[in-house]
Amino acid sequence: MCGIVGYVGHRDCSDVLVSALTRLEYRGYDSAGIAVFEDDKIKVAKTQGRLADLSAKMREEGKPHGHVGIGHTRWATHGKPSDINSHPHTGGNVTVVHNGIIENYIELKEMLKRKNVEFCSDTDTEVVAQLLNLYYKGDPLETISKVEDMVTGSFALGIIFADHPDTVYALRRESPLIIGVGKDETFIASDVPAILQYTKKYYLINHNEIAKLSFDGVEFYDRYMNPITKELQEADWDMDAAEKGGFPHFMIKEINEQPESIKRTILPRIYNGMPDLSECGITAEALRNFKNIHIVACGTAMHAGMVGKYVIEKLAKVPVNVDIASEFKYREPLIGEGDLVIIISQSGETADSKSAMLLAKKLGAKTLAIVNAKGSSIAREADMLIYTHAGPEIAVASTKAYMVQLSVMYLFAFELALAKGKITESECAKYITDLQEVPEKVAETLSHVVDECQHAGSTLITADSLLYIGRGLDYALSMEGSLKLKEISYIHSESYAAGELKHGTISLITEGMPVIAVATQNALLEKMISNVKEVKSRGAYVILVCDEECVVGADIADDIIKIPKISEILMPMLAVVPLQLIAYYTALAKGNDVDKPRNLAKSVTVE
Ligand code: F6R
Repeated sequence: MCGIVGYVGHRDCSDVLVSALTRLEYRGYDSAGIAVFEDDKIKVAKTQGRLADLSAKMREEGKPHGHVGIGHTRWATHGKPSDINSHPHTGGNVTVVHNGIIENYIELKEMLKRKNVEFCSDTDTEVVAQLLNLYYKGDPLETISKVEDMVTGSFALGIIFADHPDTVYALRRESPLIIGVGKDETFIASDVPAILQYTKKYYLINHNEIAKLSFDGVEFYDRYMNPITKELQEADWDMDAAEKGGFPHFMIKEINEQPESIKRTILPRIYNGMPDLSECGITAEALRNFKNIHIVACGTAMHAGMVGKYVIEKLAKVPVNVDIASEFKYREPLIGEGDLVIIISQSGETADSKSAMLLAKKLGAKTLAIVNAKGSSIAREADMLIYTHAGPEIAVASTKAYMVQLSVMYLFAFELALAKGKITESECAKYITDLQEVPEKVAETLSHVVDECQHAGSTLITADSLLYIGRGLDYALSMEGSLKLKEISYIHSESYAAGELKHGTISLITEGMPVIAVATQNALLEKMISNVKEVKSRGAYVILVCDEECVVGADIADDIIKIPKISEILMPMLAVVPLQLIAYYTALAKGNDVDKPRNLAKSVTVE
């Protein structure tokens, strides 16, 4: 999704804006631009393409020189990617950058056209610039406050006024925005990594609040222009965490960071050998009273919820529904008081997940957010909150965030099962001991399977389509394996419950079609092996992922990837590693942009 930045300070503004935007590249974009005050005049440079194209254009046509400005990376929603549709957009006196969607832009555009306002782009953003310009009578704050009342939708805006060359304004509703504060300099940004090279200090800005950045510092106002004070936040990770650190891609760096991420997430929640989520507002008594659990999320986060469902139902015997957030809202879900709705989100800004959470609250359910990004909207609005501590995840394809989401699912399931009296204290203590072994076992898996996964990647590049199969927890996991492969290698794949193949899908199997079979659950092994034989005998090229103690004939599959053994219920945390690596090496072998796959954005802040 779009990234916005802004700067007021002593440095060269164009350089700061481009460099800050580089740190937001992970969000996905198709065009970039900046607007900077040069000799008190706004100078705009923008282009379709990457930031490198913008820099090249500025080298050719001249870079704006100044100390105050705004910048943007655009992920097209209204109007195709083009130079004209790139931000910033100007309406007379006012220039803006925008992330989000102005829902009533057609109606506003019609109204402006009736007043003879002319538009040059197809964007909803230009409507905001023109609207601000129409009502501007010399007081930026008053104008922003008036226009804020007129627009509907979700947005974060960076705004400059031609006759206020020392000030940047920012306005937020729904879409993420932070205000960074360095020594004699201030920033606006869609996310913390953008400013980390300059400062770790920042303010969170709430819905409908306005920030005014000038050489005197930053001031905040509510929608009625009343000044407000805010608490300064400090990022607990630094530039290294947001850099590649010697790895060729963020994705592989983040895969390798998983052991540490798990430790950071679970260790503070283990007390005297038992799960302890009390700091998150979760008490044993509250847990005992929940009748049903709903897990609502999107994509990878939803897949973590699928594993959570199996584990919670198995251990705590509480029914769990897993819902795709974008479906949840529109199917009149049967939830209410006494239910717990768990929202899982790395970014904490996913529009579908956020609106599902708000609906759950409205219906009377208690909400628990499992979120990675501190201070994000979902984190702030849920009744209870568990932060995952993956650190910044920059690659679009989520890996370490999934891993820590799983970690929390297990901690939660153990604590719930104990609270419900479905497992004894000593059983719970054993589960916790096993969970504490996971980081080391993930590291061991990482050091053992790289060659096989690289080989699998080189085999898969010629495939048009493939299947992932598994049963039980392995099926839940294979959904994530399949998504990972699809999103970065662009090869079509589906995950299937292995037992379901015979009911239709097996007709797809032809000579050489790859099938990745995950078989880590002992009780289901025999059945899985039969399914593997079924596809193999029809010509499939089978890659089997199983544990090191699994006894199968060498001819059962074309490739066998063996992973360390751990308590069976925790096997998804190890088995996901080869699936992530297979996706990575396949994308790499195809020469794809691993960290920034086409059409995708890291944080999906529109529905
Ligand atoms: C896939 C991926 C997405 C996200 C989904 C939800 O690798 O990253 O499927 O999991 O867009 O995002 P969050 O977790 O930020 O709510």
